[in-house]
Amino acid sequence: MQDRVIIFDTTLRDGEQSPGASMTVEEKLEVARALDELGVDVIEAGFPIASPGDFEAVRCIAEEVRRPIICGLARCNPADIDRAWEALRHAERPRIHVFLATSAIHREFKLRMSKDEIIRRAVESVRRARSYCEDVEFSPEDAARTELDFLTAVVQAAVDAGATTINIPDTVGYAVPEEFAAVFRHLIENVKGAERVVFSAHCHDDLGLAVANSLAAVKAGARQVECTINGIGERAGNAALEEIVMALRLRKDYFGVDTAIKTQRLYPTSRLVANVTGLVVQRNKAIVGRNAFAHEAGIHQDGILKERTTYEIMRPEDVGAPRTELVLGKHSGRHALKKALEDLGYHPTEEQLDRVFEAFKRLADRKKHVYDADIEALMEEHIREAVQVWTLESFHVIAGKNVTPTATVVIRRVDDGVHEDAATGDGPVDAVFRAIERITGLSARLTDYQVRSVTSGKDAQGEVSVEVEYDGRTWRGRGLSTDIVEASAQAYLAALNRIANYLSRSSGGEPVGSAATGPTP
Ligand code: KIV
Ligand code: ZN
Repeated sequence: MQDRVIIFDTTLRDGEQSPGASMTVEEKLEVARALDELGVDVIEAGFPIASPGDFEAVRCIAEEVRRPIICGLARCNPADIDRAWEALRHAERPRIHVFLATSAIHREFKLRMSKDEIIRRAVESVRRARSYCEDVEFSPEDAARTELDFLTAVVQAAVDAGATTINIPDTVGYAVPEEFAAVFRHLIENVKGAERVVFSAHCHDDLGLAVANSLAAVKAGARQVECTINGIGERAGNAALEEIVMALRLRKDYFGVDTAIKTQRLYPTSRLVANVTGLVVQRNKAIVGRNAFAHEAGIHQDGILKERTTYEIMRPEDVGAPRTELVLGKHSGRHALKKALEDLGYHPTEEQLDRVFEAFKRLADRKKHVYDADIEALMEEHIREAVQVWTLESFHVIAGKNVTPTATVVIRRVDDGVHEDAATGDGPVDAVFRAIERITGLSARLTDYQVRSVTSGKDAQGEVSVEVEYDGRTWRGRGLSTDIVEASAQAYLAALNRIANYLSRSSGGEPVGSAATGPTP
């Protein structure tokens, strides 16, 4: 049996069925390119008969993305299969995926079909799909709740009709690992010609078991796993690609198989899918969650600083995630604080460290997490005042319906006067940010933007908080004004000022500009 598991990504089909996750054709193409770069073997690009948009997405992906197999879904009827082929025909490596429900519940209430009719339809459909292309996948929908003898009969008929992949879906996320593995073992042992086809697992996460069930199937002989980035999909979602891939990679000693995934692309692909679908990744999500490589407990932080493998089974860089974050909180010790300060470019004396540590403990009692920005603020308060390298002098924005938002911004640089530049953007705030970037020469990735009203009434003060990523770190800034665009500009500049101070410290130089107060630590 081959020792490589085929990764079949269905983010663009089952994943897109997540409530609220629909994507445009252009967005689907962008995700498909990223999946190609990630190294997936099969991209299920959509369900061509479902809508003109789905058809177009499958067609465009089939035409443009040439390395992986491009797959289109079809129910077991001629119109679906013909439409799927129409969308796929220009693919370098096309696959038609036909499915038909087999469980008693679906037979009785949804399809109103007898067992014989189901077998007949499955056979006709696999044959029709095979008349178009050699690569045909068959899925008995709700297989996990189907009587094992009937499931075996349907699968046998599909294999005899020419299916090359047999996918066993746990459509409603009902299976448990041992039971699901037994289904695979039974089919592989009892279906004649099983050695000629690839068995595949397709699990949903209604009981939180999608990944466990998929891995159990692999252990039992499945050599394709169907999954989605970030585990998005119908209801509770599908098995998460990144979790399956890393489990197989890290526990090769147990599973004895691997995938062709370039794991360093996992995190960037996860971010892209989260941005495009708007489905935010939960903080504690395995592999790609923001806390996946964050440690707060003092004992853990101490262990990590002494030897990383004490509390980490993989390195963030293995999955392309930003470096390990020691989240400082009330459980953190002096050692962790010192390390955080050094990472921020500070080199405090023992006496300065004592002072900041005391202030840090007081802050940590009030605040659950103490971030880089908080530590900087402590340093600024207790040791050295930061330099406001850039300050906002004025700005002018043109925006409205059917107008390209344009901003002109004037900024004073602490050591060499005022600078002015203009830019266009997706909206007035975006235009201002771009103009600021042109002037400062610093371009950071905006990862969070929040507006909050701090007073009431029409003349309420708005507080804008921004979070940006630069050099693998997170920087925050805040701005306050009755004008939201102005508050946004101030917040962005505050974050860029922090970055400028950090760059200056890291290069071992004096603070940027000439207005430094207090000694350089
Ligand atoms: O969950 C399911 O059964 C499916 C099939 C179409 C494979 O998504
Ligand atoms: Zn599904």
